Amino acid sequence: MSDQQKKIAGEAAALRVEAGMVVGLGTGSTAAWFVKALAARGLDGLRCVPTSEATADLARELGLTLSTLDDTPRIDLTVDGADEVGPGLALIKGGGAALLREKLVWEASERCLVIADAAKVVKVLGQFPLPIEVVAFGHKTTANRIADVLLDHDIQMPARLRQADRGVVRTDGGNVIYDARCDAIHDVVRLADDLKLITGVVEHGLFLDLADEAIIGTDSGVELLLP
Ligand code: A5P
Repeated sequence: MSDQQKKIAGEAAALRVEAGMVVGLGTGSTAAWFVKALAARGLDGLRCVPTSEATADLARELGLTLSTLDDTPRIDLTVDGADEVGPGLALIKGGGAALLREKLVWEASERCLVIADAAKVVKVLGQFPLPIEVVAFGHKTTANRIADVLLDHDIQMPARLRQADRGVVRTDGGNVIYDARCDAIHDVVRLADDLKLITGVVEHGLFLDLADEAIIGTDSGVELLLP
């Protein structure tokens, strides 16, 4: 069952943390298992940098010591989930709308460990809609530019503004998210570069060359993947 797989991946990742480390805390249901297992270890001198308000709330509740990226700009180890884990540990992230803070924390980290259930491992990225974080001002205009870039990558469907029960989803930074249904992304590097060039796009959910290792939960234990 995927929740059990997420749990064992999170618990295995918590064993990688040592006393005194600065730890980046990811966002999402898998990362939450890691945060719980980390708190249960009761290591001395940990400082934790959360990647979302939701993770900050959970970590605070569990008694972990929180820090910020500004106060602890060098992070020893970040542990975070993913929506898809592709070849070379290229990832799609942002299903939980925390991609911008996640990428900022990942890029500040000496080592990044991705944790996921087995269903997240794919041969080609793109079945999971690619989240693209966009400045709210003029976002429909930005969405038209995104559609042009997607077409240039043979992706016919325009990206869709993410909505929830209470209306348009806003990120912790106050931005909106467009989800691009790509089906298969053939050139992840070029798509990542092209999206970043659009004014109004703050970040996208392609995490390339960032993960150092993956811990995948399976029904028979954890499997380790390297890039
Ligand atoms: C949060 O924005 C995401 O990047 C999550 O890490 C990702 O969606 C994985 O979430 P789950 O662990 O809940 O599947």
